Amino acid sequence: MIDPWATTLYEDYGKLMDDFGISKFDSSHLPKPAPIFRRGIIFGHRDFERIRNTYERGMRFAILTGLMPSGMMHLGHKMVIDQVIYFQGLGADVTLAVADIEAYATRDISFEKGRRIAIDEYIPNYIALGLKPQMCSIYFQSKRVEVKDLAYILGKKINLSTMRAIYGMEDNTNMSHIFSPLVQVGDILHVQLDKFGGPRPTLVPVGVDQDPHIRLTRDIAASYRICSVQMTNEGYVAVFIKRDENVSRYIDMAISSAESLGFEKFERNDRYKALYILDSEEKDLIKIDDAMINWEETINPYTFYLPSSTYHRFMTGLTGEKMSSSHPESAIFLSDTSEDVKKKVMIAKTGGGVSVEEHRKNGGKPEICSVYELYVYHLVEDDSYLQSIYDSCREGRRLCGQCKKEATSLLIQFLDDLREKRESAKEYIDDYLSEY
Ligand code: TRP
Ligand code: SF4
Repeated sequence: MIDPWATTLYEDYGKLMDDFGISKFDSSHLPKPAPIFRRGIIFGHRDFERIRNTYERGMRFAILTGLMPSGMMHLGHKMVIDQVIYFQGLGADVTLAVADIEAYATRDISFEKGRRIAIDEYIPNYIALGLKPQMCSIYFQSKRVEVKDLAYILGKKINLSTMRAIYGMEDNTNMSHIFSPLVQVGDILHVQLDKFGGPRPTLVPVGVDQDPHIRLTRDIAASYRICSVQMTNEGYVAVFIKRDENVSRYIDMAISSAESLGFEKFERNDRYKALYILDSEEKDLIKIDDAMINWEETINPYTFYLPSSTYHRFMTGLTGEKMSSSHPESAIFLSDTSEDVKKKVMIAKTGGGVSVEEHRKNGGKPEICSVYELYVYHLVEDDSYLQSIYDSCREGRRLCGQCKKEATSLLIQFLDDLREKRESAKEYIDDYLSEY
């Protein structure tokens, strides 16, 4: 495996993971992992085991993510959609939210403008990148009443001081902004409502900046569960009832569904609202939790699997800071012309030596080079070719001028191809979105 960022960036992400309890993503179990997985670009996750367990058993899972229609799409946005496409290939059902409420509330984008940006930019690009639109539901937050209802309903579990603690909102933050994370919670959880396929594991691929929303959503989903299924120190699974009423009845239901999985040894303690499944072990945890969700959903319409998430690294912009639409020189937009690309790559920050002589002598530093990053994230499929770029740069055999030329021509080829596919996607997109 190639880890293009050796120490510098990796340490930052490592700290992030420690601070927020994000787990390290291990791609070795994925079937035919795409480059972004193999190369550690997807570095972290919450509860991905649940998703893995689901596709390995051939069961249904959902993938959902959202885009804020607030500007032009650039290469830094592509990692999320690459994942959506990969998991669509594994059989996930796909839902994409156009976050027009969020764009209105936080970026002052009108609904009409948000709609245009989504239809002209994002959705055609998604399809051009390889998303199969037939097997996918794309919606606008402002148009899907179940999402807004859910935001309102689930909002009852969260008070203002929690919102402040998570997001640092100030006294002068407008109410639409304060409320918009709950709309995102509605986005993520609504796919588990009966009307949208019922409870099932859901994967949300996002940039790590979105992790607060993921934690909020997981907390809310957990608060609606009747059971909390946990490992005991003794190594078997316990089911705790989180309600004060009907405890004995719930324990009865828990026992009968555990029995149908084949377990036989139980110890129940109604006063502690606990059921211990003595002949279970750690590997049964997910299965038992699934079984509890099955009966919970028959009596509680807000029964949700806690959503899982994956996190990607951000691309360094060509200027050295994060790639972002607010600094157009830093970003390669998917609609950039050949001329734009040439200009931007020409002046891109590299890890090259101060002079050609120095570079030849001491080698370059691909791990801090924004051009190398283009190869790693987007331009080179073949791992051994990527390795050879890395090695020849390190050894001073590859010079920045030639390297930039190659990146430029690969980029132009990629964008030309995308442009063609995007234009043909645009021809049917209005039909496709007509129901919204
Ligand atoms: N907040 C996300 C962003 O700023 C967009 C978004 C809206 C989203 N709803 C979502 C992301 C649901 C993941 C899941 O880009
Ligand atoms: Fe970057 Fe290429 Fe120069 Fe190496 S040779 S520093 S990878 S531009």
